[in-house]
Amino acid sequence: MTETAGTGALPVEGVPAARVLDEIRALRAGDRPTHGGRLFAYVYDPGVAGLDELAQAAYAESAHVNGLDPTAFPSLLAMENALVGAAARLLGGGPGTSAPDVVGSVTSGGTESLILAVKAARDARPDLAEPRIVVPVSGHAAFAKAAHYLRVALDPVPVDPVTLRPAVADVAAAIRPETVLVVASAPSYAHGVIDPVAEIAAVAAAAGVRCHVDACFGGWALPWLRRLGAPVPPFDFAVPGVTSISVDLHKYAYAPKGVSVLLHRDPGLRATQFFAYADWPGYTMVNPVIASTRSGGPIAAAYATLRHLGEDGYLRLAAVTRDAVAGLADAVRAVDGLRLLAEPESTVVCFTADDPALDLFVLVDELTARGWHTQPQLAYAGLPASVHLTVTAAVAPRVAEFGPALAEAAAAARAAGPVVLPPELLALAGSLTPEALTPDLIAGLAAGLGLGAGAAPDRMAAVNTLLQAAPVRLRERLLVEFVGLLQRPTW
Ligand SMILES: Cc1ncc(COP(=O)(O)O)c(C=O)c1O
Repeated sequence: MTETAGTGALPVEGVPAARVLDEIRALRAGDRPTHGGRLFAYVYDPGVAGLDELAQAAYAESAHVNGLDPTAFPSLLAMENALVGAAARLLGGGPGTSAPDVVGSVTSGGTESLILAVKAARDARPDLAEPRIVVPVSGHAAFAKAAHYLRVALDPVPVDPVTLRPAVADVAAAIRPETVLVVASAPSYAHGVIDPVAEIAAVAAAAGVRCHVDACFGGWALPWLRRLGAPVPPFDFAVPGVTSISVDLHKYAYAPKGVSVLLHRDPGLRATQFFAYADWPGYTMVNPVIASTRSGGPIAAAYATLRHLGEDGYLRLAAVTRDAVAGLADAVRAVDGLRLLAEPESTVVCFTADDPALDLFVLVDELTARGWHTQPQLAYAGLPASVHLTVTAAVAPRVAEFGPALAEAAAAARAAGPVVLPPELLALAGSLTPEALTPDLIAGLAAGLGLGAGAAPDRMAAVNTLLQAAPVRLRERLLVEFVGLLQRPTW
């Protein structure tokens, strides 16, 4: 082995614990705020005192437990089964329901749950050489990732530009003999609207095809909102034809990251999700999920979170969130030139700008400069660019401040005017093919946009404007290249 001079993560001599923690805290100071209700994406904060400490302690208890072998660590199996039971009960399954045999697995997140739903459906049809899945374009991008990873063809279904939902007839028409899975969202991430699940499940069932409801985002919010009186349409196992549902506990169950549940209506539907291998000289391996070794930390933390909050806690948090959604929607309505893209029906507020003088990407930067972190969404297939707000309970105390901040940011965005990229850059973005991108071109584009090695610019409006000007495949390639620039080792 060659001797090294040590690196940031691996110094020659170990650093005392307190200093290491100080260093991490110093790094974290540059992050967006995970608590305090000013970040409307990425984080789910209930704002409940003491909950973080509980989850951290539970995480620490089980961090070194390995989910690889449930017989070696029965504690983990017990907690997983309890989480699956809770999710199933909340989503219309379990004893005394029309789906009494529901089973499930705990995964690392929504993406893993969706990949496994697609895998289970694909592997249940080994007779098909070219399996396909039907997914509304509003379905989460993780379905495209699943299709890509698993070599399953993706049949996208457009959504209506007004309702932002797919037409059931279009879903039905997209189902072919090779279709192994039809997808509905409850709700969609981008706009927070609930697909017509009952109708979609019915056409899937009529064709003898599985139907997955992606309730990763809202599956832990909608049932409480319904109990509070919101008109939530049927979307769970109460709907005939729904064969699997995913729900992320690290979203509205407010557990620390790394936990989702994938439910199947019965064990037969789940069987093809598992992977077992005995054709090697090592330990006999059976993995219900993608990861083999997996930490018990997220599972224990989720278990502690659910037990501590309880049904009454979630109901209380849902009521607070519902009121925050209403307040934020009012704040949007009060700003000239802004328009809700959809009337909120879950925990998302999504708006667009009708006035060309009000550039949404500039607005997002102006909000960021004022300490409010929102998520821009690029125009796509006839849908305008929009701003997405994931609303959690911690936002509630901030709602009154958000209105004036939004109005001020909108005024500043008008004053600044829309992003104007050099016409040759825009022309390039509109005409380049991904194959024509050379390292020099990428370096030039990145430099022009202020994207350097290891750092992103404070203001992202120019980047978003350029991406929006590019066709979808070029957008993807640019994203890969730009993030590739950020992910460089430090020595
Ligand atoms: C509806 C929906 N499905 C799937 C996912 C993917 O979840 P994750 O980011 O945990 O992989 C998300 C994430 O926001 C989502 O909103």
